[in-house]
Amino acid sequence: MSSYKRGIAYQYVKETKYDRESIFDRGDFGQIPRPPVYKTYPDNARIPLPRPDFEETDSLWGILNQRRSKRRYSADPISTTTLATVLWAAQGITLPARDYQFRTAPSAGALYPVETYLSIHRVSDLKHGIYHFNVRDFVLEEITQGNFSNHMSRAALGQAMVGRAAVLFIWTAMVLRSMWKYRNRCIRYIYMDAGHIAQNLQLAATALGLGCCTIGAFYDQEINAMLEIDGEEETAVYLAAVGNVYV
Ligand SMILES: Cc1cc2nc3c(=O)[nH]c(=O)nc-3n(C[C@H](O)[C@H](O)[C@H](O)COP(=O)(O)O)c2cc1C
Repeated sequence: MSSYKRGIAYQYVKETKYDRESIFDRGDFGQIPRPPVYKTYPDNARIPLPRPDFEETDSLWGILNQRRSKRRYSADPISTTTLATVLWAAQGITLPARDYQFRTAPSAGALYPVETYLSIHRVSDLKHGIYHFNVRDFVLEEITQGNFSNHMSRAALGQAMVGRAAVLFIWTAMVLRSMWKYRNRCIRYIYMDAGHIAQNLQLAATALGLGCCTIGAFYDQEINAMLEIDGEEETAVYLAAVGNVYV
């Protein structure tokens, strides 16, 4: 056994392991409020998204083979149809259910704790700004106007690709949506959910010939502040830059 100091990473995994003795132990959580399945901004400006364009692409096998993280983007804007198409691919609704709707990406317990925000830098017919993706109504809800490309890049540890991206995807976790059912184990599932969504985005971007790179390195609270979220019950978990490939 090595002698390095074990930190909270091991502690978290240890304390959230299922075992036969404790699996039905619900822990001392009190009453966890169950948040709504959908987050919406009813008072904010809404921008309807065009229908996704399911153009013919390479086969799934070819797309899997080509997928690569691409970090160099051209100055050309992407169209709103392209944006709508990759948004749908990442997390779009595919099958109505009861109080929720199934999506393109799987989610533990169909609880869908991951929300999507966009920092729009170069998308035709869309003003610069930070928007929330209302997945139920397939519209964008405006959070703040202005070009945040430099702020986002700085918040992503100065990674230049963020500033050059046509759009930055920001995924947040609505922690209580999952904690309500899974207690402390929820954090594992939230990050798995985000990974599925991100892979969908990467594959869709590849299919459309776009560049995409997912990003785990960012100053959490700087991103949270720009989204105007509390960083606790809702907090940023993952980012992805998308743009036309620089050739
Ligand atoms: C969870 C996660 C976080 C990542 N964070 C970054 C990042 O902050 N910056 C970056 O340039 N690439 C990031 N990447 C991309 C990886 O560097 C990339 O996936 C890896 O080098 C393998 O290359 P490929 O995606 O082209 O197969 C991240 C990938 C994952 C899955």
